[in-house]
Amino acid sequence: MPPSVPATSDRVTIAGVTLLPSMLAADFARIGEQVRAGLTAGAGGMHADVMDGRFVPPITYGPKVIRTITEATGAWIDAHLMIVEPERHIDELARAGVKAVTVHVEACPHLHRVLGMIRDAGMEAGVALNPATPVTETLRYTLSLLDRVLVMSVNPGWGGQAFIPEALDKVHKVAQIARASERDIHIQVDGGVTPENVGALVAHGADELVAGTAVFKGDIDANVKAFAEAIRAGKSV
Ligand code: DX5
Ligand code: ZN
Repeated sequence: MPPSVPATSDRVTIAGVTLLPSMLAADFARIGEQVRAGLTAGAGGMHADVMDGRFVPPITYGPKVIRTITEATGAWIDAHLMIVEPERHIDELARAGVKAVTVHVEACPHLHRVLGMIRDAGMEAGVALNPATPVTETLRYTLSLLDRVLVMSVNPGWGGQAFIPEALDKVHKVAQIARASERDIHIQVDGGVTPENVGALVAHGADELVAGTAVFKGDIDANVKAFAEAIRAGKSV
């Protein structure tokens, strides 16, 4: 019998922090099994990196593949759209069972409208900032539509890159804006996240950690548990 996994609607957190493994680093020939292993070990859901070969050079996968994963595993899926014209794919992502969609501020001249479309489709809406993108005033003007801000700590497009330390300051600034809004806005960090930098990220205000390589390379169960330990240790200092 396959191990039991949380229902899609559950948001599993570890001391208030959600670990979202990035499936980009998974073995796609064994994706269902690996996703279930991550969820059973304590991950709060899965992060799906959708790339179109235009906003970023690589091409990954889209709603059709994601749908097979939600149907096979029941995972709560957060889709990170590294694509141009994301508005063309919102409804199909909702039909694929995706629960949260994040679009890049750099890819969206009509960001306010796109965030509204995501929410109208019944999903959480997020905006991502590339490493060189400042904490823009744009955030303040879209706050009422935001469920999360994603601070990229590597340049989007590839897994396995080194964490860019300037992201810490950005996490802090975004967390301050989110707190001042008095809305429940998650601060997500993506890229080069490992148990070693979790403490600093959480201390600066991150409450959602995306990690690909550090979860899927090697022993998934042990890797997720190392994150859980690092999160609890970070929270207790
Ligand atoms: C990069 C993606 C990330 C990536 C993270 O464009 O957005 O989600 O998979 O991979 P690691 O954790 O290996 O840096
Ligand atoms: Zn991502």
